[in-house]
Amino acid sequence: MTMLKTERLTLRPLVPEDAEAYAAMRFHPEVAKWLPPAQGDPLDAARATIGRFATAWQERQYAPWGVFLGDGLIGHGGLNFVPEFAATEVLWALHPDAWGHGYATEVARAALPYGFDTLGLDLIFAITLPDNVASQAVMKRLGLTYRRRVDYKAFTDIVWYDVDRETWQAR
Ligand SMILES: CC(C)(COP(=O)(O)OP(=O)(O)OC[C@H]1O[C@@H](n2cnc3c(N)ncnc32)[C@H](O)[C@@H]1OP(=O)(O)O)[C@@H](O)C(=O)NCCC(=O)NCCS
Repeated sequence: MTMLKTERLTLRPLVPEDAEAYAAMRFHPEVAKWLPPAQGDPLDAARATIGRFATAWQERQYAPWGVFLGDGLIGHGGLNFVPEFAATEVLWALHPDAWGHGYATEVARAALPYGFDTLGLDLIFAITLPDNVASQAVMKRLGLTYRRRVDYKAFTDIVWYDVDRETWQAR
């Protein structure tokens, strides 16, 4: 499992003890409305996600990190393998208290070199709902390009952006 420090943030794999803070971020209504719905108790769902990420860290050497400002969890972000597309996405979600400071961009700017240079990925994509302008602003800031609409889980016709390694390295 890899931990990274950025200028302002610590990116570290989530552990079971993070579940409460993670649930408060991931299931905050202003965050949850943009993400695939989860069933049942938020704390149980947070624990399940943390467990799924831990498995991915072991099997693939990557999963989304917990994003920490000091000791406080403010979000998650990083690389996530999506079996439906047989490809790896870069994703982010922050507690609303942490929006507007460039933290999502800072996380992704650490995740992309980790994906392309350390892991040797060929392509990294990002998807979101068409009206999620904040998330698409992050994608554009990073240098991802809009390609097409796709369906994913409960969402139809969502926007797909991506960047390949060659383009990213030549940026
Ligand atoms: C999408 C989301 C992570 C974006 O967070 P964010 O804080 O707005 O994004 P950034 O980290 O790029 O910050 C951008 C803003 O911070 C400002 N900023 C301040 N300091 C900055 C810095 N050092 N570097 C970059 N931007 C900075 C920028 O000017 C920008 O403001 P603007 O959008 O008005 O131009 C956040 O809105 C969120 O968690 N939403 C709910 C969950 C979600 O939608 N996740 C994505 C699903 S696909």
